This record gives sequence, structure tokens and C-alpha cells, in this order.
Amino acid sequence: MAEIKMPMEPFRIKVVEPTHKTSREEREEILRKAGLNVFNIPAEKVTIDLLTDSGTSAMSDNQWAGMMLGDESYAGSKNFFHLENSIKGIFGFSHVIPTHQGRAAERILFEALVKEGYYVPNNIHFDTTRANVEVRGAHAVNLAVDEVYDPLSDHPFKGNIDTEKLEKFIQENGKEKISLVMMTITNNSGGGQPVSLENIKKVSGICRNYGIPFYFDACRFAENSYFIKKREKGFAEKSILDIARETFSFADGATMSAKKDALVNIGGFVTLNDDELAGKLKKLLIISEGFPTYGGLAGRDLEAISRGLEEILEEDFLEHRIAQVHYLGKLLDDAGVPIYKPVGGHAVYILADKFLLHISRDQYPGWALTVALFRESGVRTVEIGGVMFAKKDEKGEGEIFPELELVRLAIPRRVYTASHIHYVADALKKLFKNREKIKGLKIVSQALPLRHFTVRMEEI
Ligand code: F0G
Repeated sequence: MAEIKMPMEPFRIKVVEPTHKTSREEREEILRKAGLNVFNIPAEKVTIDLLTDSGTSAMSDNQWAGMMLGDESYAGSKNFFHLENSIKGIFGFSHVIPTHQGRAAERILFEALVKEGYYVPNNIHFDTTRANVEVRGAHAVNLAVDEVYDPLSDHPFKGNIDTEKLEKFIQENGKEKISLVMMTITNNSGGGQPVSLENIKKVSGICRNYGIPFYFDACRFAENSYFIKKREKGFAEKSILDIARETFSFADGATMSAKKDALVNIGGFVTLNDDELAGKLKKLLIISEGFPTYGGLAGRDLEAISRGLEEILEEDFLEHRIAQVHYLGKLLDDAGVPIYKPVGGHAVYILADKFLLHISRDQYPGWALTVALFRESGVRTVEIGGVMFAKKDEKGEGEIFPELELVRLAIPRRVYTASHIHYVADALKKLFKNREKIKGLKIVSQALPLRHFTVRMEEI
């Protein structure tokens, strides 16, 4: 990989939260009690938590100051109007509907748009969008470019939708059977890879041509805009805000989990142009989330999102953010640790089946690596592989495994410094040297679906 330097943090630290060290014996006991499942580990026992970048950001002094200006009126809170202003300024759609987090936005949108037996194509659906499509008896379809499944292809926009596959899919299934097309930026379930504006334009053109609504799953839109600026011809001189505005100008709306690129611990929204649809969404919102000017959030939360959305557009911040993630990738790559390339926006993904060549897929190498890394260092990560995504084969005996067996090291925003990154890299390098000692796993108990949250394991 090319030379990458770790830039200086573009912030200084005003409030600190102690981290907790544990001994190897304690971690052994913690893992035993947790049934070798890192989701069952109390967070206080985790030294560095790379389970997710969602809801784990450190808020700024400006956001905390905004929290004190929370207007907790049931209807018409001033913070809602601030939020509406921020979102309209970036996304440009006429309706803004707050929700308590991303999946609530997905639920109300799909409840209004998606019918049983219909299809929703995406580059790759995130688990919650897939689940929200499937509970409606509809089909969630992944149409990403093939390069995304090749962890060594250096394609700069591996998050793109394959436009030939999309056209073919529409023609074969009929435009009237497609509820909407979604595009996830960046593509979390495919290595955190970005989508190019060229691809966004083409997909939008196809959707308009067939009269199919086109929506973004926009959790990490600012990171995607940064990649466009750095990698796509003609964007180097444009601001992140201009690129984001151009991105959204090609769609009919977006859902967003504010827990990522809005730099907050809770929140989400849907934003769209269609007046009639917006009316339906607001009705659904009132039933389970709340009145349309708060959508399940406190006034102070709305203010924090509004301010976070402005801060995320700062290029100094994004430069550091992406460089920090890529720096971890480079430390690992230089040590020969197999990783997914190019490194994405919010996480480094380890190719666990290549890391643990001696553990077969049916002994869950990704899961085994999350256990070994916690045991070694107290670092928590997440498997995105056979445990999370395997399907039963036709006879119902064996399992069909997903193409990639990954362990995701997701980096929370503004939380960890360079020395934390070194700690993680050193632990993984040590494990990689002694990798033959890591054992495969078997499942002792599990509850379907989403078994990764509850599964208990034993070492073989
Ligand atoms: N879409 C994408 C692409 C996501 O990554 C997530 C959450 C959601 C939707 C749902 O948002 O959690 O606010 O309801 N991703 C987290 C993760 C959980 O760890 O990647 P939510």
C-alpha cells in the first residue's frame, strides 16, 4: 500500500472517559461466561471497542452546548426547525421526518412503499433494510458490482451498483414489481466501499426512465462524498457540501441513521419530496415513534443531530477520519495480515478465512478471530461472515456460507487516538504470528434469525 501518515487529530480533548484493562485470566473468565460471544461481554470489560461506529461518536463541545438548548415541547420544538434547516441544506428534499434511529426510518418508508412479493434492489442491503423488506413479504436483492466480492480488486468505487444487472433485473421482473431502488453509501455490508457520482447518475437515470423511486441509505454520506472528492475526476476542487448536494439531487429521498455521519449517539430520519408519501409516513410515525416534529427523540437530540450534520462536512475532520482508518489498514497490511482492499471509510475488514487458513468455514474462522483478539488484548470486534450470514442448504443439514468471511474493525468517530490504533494493530500482529494456536469453534446453542446476537460457542 502507498505511504500513509497518521495526521494529527483535528481536535483536543476536553472530557475523558477511562478505559479498562483486564488480565488474561479475567478475559478468559469473561469469554467463558459470554459463551464465546463478544455481544455478551459487558462493555465495561472491553478495553477498546471496535464493535461498531454506530452511536459511538464523541460529541463536540458545540453539540453538548446545543443539548442544553433542548426545547422539549411536544409539538413544534425549535430544535426540530434547526434540524429541518440543516437537513434541507444538505439533502435538499422538502420533507424531513425524524425517527429514533435508522431502522425506524426504513420501517415507515417500506411500510408505505413495499408490498408483498415485490422487489427492492440495493448495492448490498444492510441487515436492517433487508429485514424491513423481508418482513413485508418482499424480496431484498443485492446488485453490487462483482468487484465488491474480490477483496483484492483495487477498483476505486466497489460500492457501485452494477447498472447492467439492474436494467436486466427490471426487464425480467417488470418495473411495476419494483417498489423502489436503494443505494447504500458507503456500502457497509461490502467493505465500507464508496459509490461514485457517475454511478449515482446512471442508476438515477435508469430509475427515472422506468418510473421507479430511488432512495439512498445515507448513514455515511459524508465519508462517501470525501471519497468522491479524492478519487473521482472533476471533484477535487468541490466542497464536501457541494458533492453531498449533488449526490442527493439525483434521488427522490433518503433514510439515514444519524448514529454514523451525524456524530450523535441516537437518532435518524427520512427525507423526501413526495407530498402524498410524506403524509403516509407521518401517520405511521405517530403510531409508533411520535409526533412529526420529534419522531421519538428529545428536543436536545434533534439539536445535537443538527449540529453534527454541520460538523461532519468539515474536510479536516474527514481527512483525519479516513486517514485513521487507512492507517490501521496499512499497519496490518505491512505486517502481512490479510485485509479487504482498498480499505473503506469507517472500518478495516480482516479476511478471517485467509488469516486462519487451518480453520475451515464450518468452524467459523471469523468468529474464532473475534474471540482470540479479545482474549489477547481486550479489543472487541464483530464477525461479518458465516455465523452472521450462513443459510441452511436445501436439505436443511449443512450451511451455505457467504462469499466473504470478515472481521470488521469499525472505528468510532473522534473517540480513539493514534496510540489506541497502535495497540489494536500490535495485538493483531502478535495473533497473526501465532495464528496456528487459534482453534475452530462449534455452536452449542443459537436462536434464529440474527443468531449472532445470542449464539453460544465452544472451542474444538
Ligand atoms: N443502514 C446501514 C448502512 C447501517 O450501517 C445501519 C446500522 C443501518 C442502516 C441501521 O441504522 O442502527 O440506526 O437503526 N449499522 C450499524 C453497524 C448497526 O454496526 O454497522 P440504525
